[in-house]
Amino acid sequence: MVREGDVMREVAIIGCGMTKFGELWQLSIRDIFVEAALKAIDDAHVDHIDSMYVGNMTAGIFVGQEHLGSVMADYLGLTPIPATRIESACASGGLALRQGFIEIASGMSDIVLVGGVEKMTDSSDPTYGLAAAADREYEAYNGVSFPGLYAMIARAHMHKYGTTREQLALVAVKNHKNGSMNPNAQFQREITIDTVLNSTLIADPLRLMDCSPISDGAACVILCPLSEAKKYTDTPVKIIGSGFATDSIALHQRKDITTLNAVVKSGQQAFKMAGLTPDKIDLAEVHDCFTIAEICVIEDLEFTEKGKGGEFVEKGLANIDGKIPINTSGGLKSKGHPVGATGVAQVVEIFEQLTGNAGKRQVKNAHVGLAQNMGGSGGSSVVHIMEGV
Ligand code: COA
Repeated sequence: MVREGDVMREVAIIGCGMTKFGELWQLSIRDIFVEAALKAIDDAHVDHIDSMYVGNMTAGIFVGQEHLGSVMADYLGLTPIPATRIESACASGGLALRQGFIEIASGMSDIVLVGGVEKMTDSSDPTYGLAAAADREYEAYNGVSFPGLYAMIARAHMHKYGTTREQLALVAVKNHKNGSMNPNAQFQREITIDTVLNSTLIADPLRLMDCSPISDGAACVILCPLSEAKKYTDTPVKIIGSGFATDSIALHQRKDITTLNAVVKSGQQAFKMAGLTPDKIDLAEVHDCFTIAEICVIEDLEFTEKGKGGEFVEKGLANIDGKIPINTSGGLKSKGHPVGATGVAQVVEIFEQLTGNAGKRQVKNAHVGLAQNMGGSGGSSVVHIMEGV
């Protein structure tokens, strides 16, 4: 295991940008990416880009466009720089950040643009496209969609640990409250437990308000070596830990579906590289594609003991003024979930929090933040830990 500072160059984030998330009918996938990228370039005050990564899950299915590295470099006016599309389902954005981090750390490039993008609302069948991230042969062809897979996880968690329907709902209530303070969020309105419990049943026990929505959006950050960062900004954010792990693609192959092993492993790697324990994290953006996912991730990152994630949320420990604020941006639930963009948007939120620019959502004394981004039902997970410098 490489340790931060050992053989690698230290890496900083020096600027960020994102579009509003939601139904962006007037914009194409390239328009969305270019808008976020130009904002990030402007924010970082860089005059060139050496290389770029585009996190994207499945533009080929959603909008019929592949070859996104080239498309985005072209429409940004950046050709002939190397531009690589990265895919790990809904963790594509987080993995794109890891690749950009590795490229700077290795000394291969000095200024890297890392972005994520997805245009889902143009698709006539987004559920089919999303199911490409599950096991198509054993799960999707037999009729299970992602709400169905996470519903099974929720049922198992409720059975094994006594997690309640109300605790699931409280995740959505908290995240909508946070999203109501985020001008880029898809749903900027608060909801109550009753809103969740009375919303349409999607896959028992999950209801509409337990689900992240279908969204369009893009997010970008600019990376450079930490040693150069103060040339561009007074407030760089250093990446101090990076972890990435995989797990069986299908739920039925797992010994225990209430633990997301890829989250456990990617978290452990990132904490080890950062030299920190979970109690040293000041805030986290985690992959709440469904309310049960946030509860599992809180446990699997060891913010609390296994089985107590629901209680953690119920006690207010994940609130903006709680022990470890979780999903201050509104999370996937309220901010929206344009799948390939999500991992980078999480990092945008951590960057804004650590640089004191999160407005009404600002967490007091935020120095260290974590972003956890998951692919499918936990087939992959990426964790980054960042520190304000
Ligand atoms: N949360 C809150 N409101 C939502 C919502 C969500 N997740 N999804 C849709 N809505 C709202 C819409 O804005 C719309 O409101 P309006 O009538 O005021 O305009 C209403 O609910 C109906 O929207 P519609 O688009 O018809 O919903 P739908 O039934 O087609 O889709 C889901 C709802 C839950 C099936 C869809 O959002 C979904 O599949 N989510 C999961 C996405 C997913 O699996 N992502 C990958 C995770 S691994």
